[in-house]
Amino acid sequence: MTASESSYRAFLDSRSHEGLRRSLLAVASRDARIIGAEGRSYVNFSSNDYLGLRFNDTLISRAIDWAEAYGVGAGASRLVTGNLDLFGPIESKLARLKGKQAALVLASGFQTNAAVLPALFDRSVLGAEPLVFADRLNHASMHFGCQAAGVRQVRYRHGDAAHLGELLSQYQDDGRPKFILTESVFSMDGDVAPLAEIAALAREHEGCLIVDDAHATGILGEGGAGLSGEADMVIGTFSKALGSFGGYVAGSETLRDYLINKCAGLIYSTALPPPVLGAIDAALDLVSGMDQERAYVARLAERFRIGAGGMGLSTGASATQIVPVILGSAEAATAMSGQLRQAGLWATSIRPPTVPAGTARLRLTFTAAHQESDVDRLLEALSTEGAPRQARAV
Ligand SMILES: Cc1ncc(COP(=O)(O)O)c(C=O)c1O
Repeated sequence: MTASESSYRAFLDSRSHEGLRRSLLAVASRDARIIGAEGRSYVNFSSNDYLGLRFNDTLISRAIDWAEAYGVGAGASRLVTGNLDLFGPIESKLARLKGKQAALVLASGFQTNAAVLPALFDRSVLGAEPLVFADRLNHASMHFGCQAAGVRQVRYRHGDAAHLGELLSQYQDDGRPKFILTESVFSMDGDVAPLAEIAALAREHEGCLIVDDAHATGILGEGGAGLSGEADMVIGTFSKALGSFGGYVAGSETLRDYLINKCAGLIYSTALPPPVLGAIDAALDLVSGMDQERAYVARLAERFRIGAGGMGLSTGASATQIVPVILGSAEAATAMSGQLRQAGLWATSIRPPTVPAGTARLRLTFTAAHQESDVDRLLEALSTEGAPRQARAV
């Protein structure tokens, strides 16, 4: 074993010791509601496919059609020969959905944050290191982008516009360019940022507001537009409610042109493959007409919150389709996840460092593919007296 491998082994051992070791488990999904693993079936309460579009016939057939017509790969970066004529109409539809002048499709949502933020924060272009005000619970990909940019984040308390205001005031005579970075719906808490207040602060302090709308696009907002309307720039993904894969940024024409010239993750990475573009294109056609599904998912999540609250479980400040059950220790979260697994319900535990220490949880998600009886089964399994110990047929 090399010296570096011994260090990696020691890291893994310490993760095991703390009950925080991660591993990959092979699963089989044949529809949006059920997940299979180790020969058994479970109702899936951990998927981000909020509208059930992953298995939608229109998305699947357009993916197949575009694979047959254009091949399964783009062949090159968009700057070389990969900028297929399929991108233009998709980016126009996306810009319309987000209410922005322009949009640009990149690889994954993670790559979009990891690559776009360093381009935006480039001090050789801005003339100074920017001041980046960031919500403390922003997604790992946003932290990664800030780290890659080499900027120090000024972190404000989670969802606390007053604290953000204080910090902005402390820097009000600082002439460096200011950015505010937040998610709209927080991925692990399902709560919503006070975006109107944050946008007002951005205007007052002449900062640029960047909103990651990953968990709102498609499932919240008018016509599924998400909640990023007041943002100067929106970052997002097609991998959650829109059912497939890929990341994007939306904003001004200048922003788009700048990123085409500066964003390494666009310039040096192969364009998304045509079947994925087909699925994205179909999702963008369908999403505005899915009000019924959005209302249904909201009702399911509310039904669960009311039931869980009645049992004394903490669902934090969740107000969306993402509902955490906050249990505290990693051991408690893992045990509860295992108990639900025995009852035929799939609810992955989320532990530090993904969430702050002492707030390990089940992160439950409700989707258009669920039945109301699934929610009731989940509540029954969570109630200590009623926790079924035997697996049930799904
Ligand atoms: C807020 C947020 N941004 C970005 C991402 C990354 O998106 P993707 O899964 O498309 O890489 C996620 C996904 O977990 C997320 O929750």
